[in-house]
Amino acid sequence: MLKSDIVIKQITAQETIPVRHPELRKGRPIEECIFDGDNLFTTFHLGLFLNNHLIGVATFLENNNPLFRADQLQLRGMAVLTKYQGKKLGDLLLKKAEELAIAKNKSIIWCNARLIAVNFYKRAGYQTIGNSFEIKEVGTHFVMFKEIK
Ligand SMILES: CC(C)(COP(=O)(O)OP(=O)(O)OC[C@H]1O[C@@H](n2cnc3c(N)ncnc32)[C@H](O)[C@@H]1OP(=O)(O)O)[C@@H](O)C(=O)NCCC(=O)NCCS
Repeated sequence: MLKSDIVIKQITAQETIPVRHPELRKGRPIEECIFDGDNLFTTFHLGLFLNNHLIGVATFLENNNPLFRADQLQLRGMAVLTKYQGKKLGDLLLKKAEELAIAKNKSIIWCNARLIAVNFYKRAGYQTIGNSFEIKEVGTHFVMFKEIK
C-alpha cells in the first residue's frame, strides 16, 4: 500500500454507514448506525479512501463532556473495515482529525472507547479517565481523551 493511494477527506453522515454497519453494529438494524447529531452543521465526518474505496470513517461532534473544561470534540464511529485493520489507517484518521480540531481551536478530543479499542487509542496518545461503564448491546467502555495543544 502506497501513501499516495490514500486520501482522507470529509464525507457525509450517510456515507459513513457502509463502514459503521459491519464494524460497529454488525447484524443490527441499519438505523442503529445513525447517531444523534450526525447531521448538525458543527459535526464533521472523515473518510479514508484507499484507491477511491472508502475503508475507514470517524465522526467528530461538538459534544461537551463535563469532565473537560476546554473546547472539545467528541469522536464517535471510529472504524476501519476488518480487512484493512492493523495497517495504521486508523492512526492516520486520528492524526488528520487532530489537525482539523486544532484549526477549529479545540484542545481536547474525547471518546467513549470500547474495551477492545483502548490500546489503539493509548498508542495514539489518548488516556482513560474514570471507571469503565456499560453501553447496552455494545459492551464495556472507558472515557478516553487527548489534549491536542
Ligand atoms: C479500532 C480500529 C479503528 C483501529 O484501526 P486500525 O487501522 O486497525 O489501527 P492501526 O493499524 O492504526 O493501529 C495503530 C496501533 O494500535 C494498535 N491497535 C489497533 N487496534 C488495536 C486493538 N483492537 N487492540 C490493541 N491495539 C490495537 C496497533 O497494533 C497499532 O500499534 P503499533 O503502532 O504499535 O503497531 C479498528 O481496529 C476497528 O475499526 N475496529 C472495529 C471497530 C471498533 O472497535 N472501533 C472503535 C470503537 S471505540
